Amino acid sequence: MIVISLAAAALGAAGLADAHAQAAMPQAAGTPEMRAARRDSLGRLRAETMTQLLATIQGHEDEPARKVFKSVQLLRDTPAKELLALMDTSYSKALGVDCTSCHIADKWADESRPNKAKARIMIEMVDAINSQHLVQMPRKRDGGYPTVTCITCHRGMATPNQMLVP
Ligand code: HEC
Ligand code: HEC
Repeated sequence: MIVISLAAAALGAAGLADAHAQAAMPQAAGTPEMRAARRDSLGRLRAETMTQLLATIQGHEDEPARKVFKSVQLLRDTPAKELLALMDTSYSKALGVDCTSCHIADKWADESRPNKAKARIMIEMVDAINSQHLVQMPRKRDGGYPTVTCITCHRGMATPNQMLVP
């Protein structure tokens, strides 16, 4: 069992404070350029976290997440490095947030942030849509069925049904 512990200081306190101030901006505020800049700064913040976390699981990247991490209920058989990639690209990017929307930065197994529980409901919903509903659709040209991901609905917003973003 690998104990994941990231000192907040290691993330660079000033940069982190800036990015969090930006993360607190209202969803979809400002021009498309302002939103793109916000996405970039969140992406940079997450890249640092990802690099550090990947270093802590070195040698165990391909083991199932349940063996490498402490509190994985749904993505148990997902290889550890794929779980991290999902967190970064699928979840955070889809919602336009950084990791701390669902986690306390150096306590990844902690369950106290409400969005972590909400995300589990969403993971199960996406699984049900894909495995029960979309398999009733005609197959696509490549032979597979259509699928939804977090990005299908969220498109960079935490609460996707509240406004239309051009
Ligand atoms: C939208 C919410 C959400 C975001 C954003 C998110 N996570 Fe997660 N994370 C989860 C959920 C939910 C789980 C537990 C999955 C399960 O139970 O199968 C999890 C589990 C983890 C774990 C396993 C912790 C353990 O020991 O059990 C790590 C590590 C992790 N996330 C890192 C990250 C990082 C790094 C980021 C940012 C790049 C991130 N997460 C962004 C929701 C999120
Ligand atoms: C079918 C559309 C759809 C898909 C796919 C989807 N979501 Fe959602 N999600 C929603 C809706 C609708 C809400 C509720 C928004 C609101 O509160 O107004 C929501 C809310 C959330 C919230 C709570 C946000 C908040 O600030 O309260 C989280 C976290 C979340 N989704 C994560 C995910 C993750 C992670 C995935 C992929 C595994 C995902 N969602 C896939 C539609 C979707």
